[in-house]
Amino acid sequence: MSSPRSHLRVACLVVAVLSCAGHAAAQNLSRPETLLKKMTLDEKIGQLVQRAGGRQRALNSRLDDAELERVRAGGVGSYLHVAGAEPLGRLQKVAVEESRLGIPLLFAMDVVHGYRTIFPVPIALASTWAPESEERAARVAAEEATAAGLHWTFAPMIDIARDPRWGRIVEGAGEDPFLGSRLAVAQVNGFQGGNILRPGSLMATAKHFGAYGAAIGGRDYNTADLSERTLQEVYLPPFYAAARAGSGSFMVAFNDIAGVPTTANRELVRGTLRERWGWQGLMVSDWGSVGELLNHGVAATRGEAGVLALDASVDMDMVGGVYADDLKEAIAKDPARIKLLDEAVLRILRVKEQLGLFDKPMVYHDVEREKSALLSAEHRESARAVARQSMVLLKNDNKLLPLNPDKLRTIAVIGALATDGRTMIGSWKAQGREEEAVTLLAGLTAAQPKLKILSAPGADPRNADLSGIPAAVKAAKAADVVVLMIGEDYDQSAEARSRSDLELPVSQMELARRVLATGKPVVVVLTNGRPLAMSWLAEKAPAILETWMLGTECGNAITDVLFGKYSPAGRLPATFPRTTGSVPFYYAGNPTGRPADPDLAKDTVRYHDLPITPLFAFGHGLSYSAFGYSDLAQSTQSVGPGDRIDISITVENTGGVASDEVVQLYVRDPVASISRPVLELRGFKRIELAAGARKRVTFSLTPEQLAFWSTRGQWLVEAGRIDFWIGASSADLRANGSFEISKTHTGTAPAAALPTRVIVSNIN
Ligand code: BGC
Repeated sequence: MSSPRSHLRVACLVVAVLSCAGHAAAQNLSRPETLLKKMTLDEKIGQLVQRAGGRQRALNSRLDDAELERVRAGGVGSYLHVAGAEPLGRLQKVAVEESRLGIPLLFAMDVVHGYRTIFPVPIALASTWAPESEERAARVAAEEATAAGLHWTFAPMIDIARDPRWGRIVEGAGEDPFLGSRLAVAQVNGFQGGNILRPGSLMATAKHFGAYGAAIGGRDYNTADLSERTLQEVYLPPFYAAARAGSGSFMVAFNDIAGVPTTANRELVRGTLRERWGWQGLMVSDWGSVGELLNHGVAATRGEAGVLALDASVDMDMVGGVYADDLKEAIAKDPARIKLLDEAVLRILRVKEQLGLFDKPMVYHDVEREKSALLSAEHRESARAVARQSMVLLKNDNKLLPLNPDKLRTIAVIGALATDGRTMIGSWKAQGREEEAVTLLAGLTAAQPKLKILSAPGADPRNADLSGIPAAVKAAKAADVVVLMIGEDYDQSAEARSRSDLELPVSQMELARRVLATGKPVVVVLTNGRPLAMSWLAEKAPAILETWMLGTECGNAITDVLFGKYSPAGRLPATFPRTTGSVPFYYAGNPTGRPADPDLAKDTVRYHDLPITPLFAFGHGLSYSAFGYSDLAQSTQSVGPGDRIDISITVENTGGVASDEVVQLYVRDPVASISRPVLELRGFKRIELAAGARKRVTFSLTPEQLAFWSTRGQWLVEAGRIDFWIGASSADLRANGSFEISKTHTGTAPAAALPTRVIVSNIN
């Protein structure tokens, strides 16, 4: 990982290059500026318009005369939910060859965790704690999507989510801004291939700026009402990191923060993102969110809504048609608004230029490339490798896992999800096909031809029909071991899929009760899009493997783990609560005047009827091995502005099985001018260790990474002691130390957005 200082140097270089380009442009107008001068008002507005393709996400059905005429007239800047090298190529040709100015179209889709080869859903990808795997997943998605005619994806979703009732927690990286920032950067780099200027790259969208995940009560679209400090320290860092990584576009959130809908939030979008952070990419609204400003009650007419959004610097109107239909009249009322319009047009044209669309509009429409890229053997292999890394072993009593096929004759695979290919590819499946997904039953059957496999659906998470349970119990009784796949289906998390109850669906609970009652050894394979409150199951089931929804290679990957071909080592990116009533529950809370104390039943910050600990802590995850942590060392006792401290530890694989381990660094500022979280993640590294092997892991931190949002509204690094811990999870801390920050000074960036340099070396 690069240091914040090298980061800043790169940023300065970029600014210098851009300002050079600016000087050149003063004498010699850039292509976007030249075009702007030639454009009519209608053509300008047309660039701001994004229209939707057909329901099948292929535009063929909409290539009617009226649509083509709109393109010829320059009335469309972009289409979304479209796909296909050939149909999109035909459409692009119309735009480029038959419209007056020949401005190319931008083609977009939600390519979130794969295009045709589907990778694990984002919360599962986040569970790898391996930015390089996130990057690989995004790269494969980009290779396939760009081969299919797409320029632009609405991903990554980098909203911090601390309330698992929110259905969209499945789409993000969980509760932590440091982990979220690293994974945001990895995905932007993966989608854009490290460089949006390279034709053939898929432009990323950091969404949904700025506090969509803070929807009160976890109800999707709901108001967020949070302190400026929490906004700055928790919700915004991944966006800052994505902006610095060069995400070509951003999307505003549907919701409002304390009464200001983000689509109209001039201070946040134009002020913080563009002016203070210096990001100049393309800002797109969310689906119809410009028009929804009327529902928010901040605009009386669509024209007013359009002006508010444009003023906030929302460049493109996704689907709502407000810019298309109502902006012209609003501009006629106040011609000064043309300046806002021109800025938006320029930003859109610049992106088209950066993607190479003016010079090589047909690069994205090579049908042969499309054929060979989609679902290639290499892509499937990557999907399987990442799926294996995504699983989190929550519990494994008496080493029930891995299963030894030589000691088994009959295995029961129970649960409707075990044959549900649709659920395996999750929400936002792009062009993923359920029939191409390997289900658990299929994967297991192919890998273990000698085992007798009894399968029974038992019960389906979608309904309360329990009539299949007796057959499932019969299969369980006849087997040596049971693999029970239960949880939520793909449609029980995702957008507009918030749930008030975090327990397992009723039918799944009943199935689990009855199967566990057989007394057979039961391995629970969980499928779900959110942390679940499953205290009963966690107590009764001897082994629980969290698999989320693992994509096209799901069944193969799970089988690899169940039979020990791969030791699971994923970690939870979000806390699992004990009950629904205890959410939001996250590890990085403030200490309070009456800290939670396991020995005191009352008068501390806790629920009277629950233990103070969560069911499974942030960062938790077991493996088939065991690890020792030793020889903690630090390079200095004191750091000042511009200094670094190196914190090193030796990790040894003591469990006799090759496995990865995720080493985690947490910090705390114990005495500051405002109370600071009891723990904050500031470093992590997933390392591979052969049995008996040792590695030395060094985390290198700067004081800026300890900055907080001060009462004066700036990043402040305060002099004083900092405590740190290294461990295997936020609840399994193995070594600790402390150092001093020698001087109070201001910081420049959100602390959690700054990367920690990590060095790993082998020890013989
Ligand atoms: C979602 C976005 C998505 C857009 C386009 C909206 O409903 O909130 O995340 O990118 O639709 O599909």
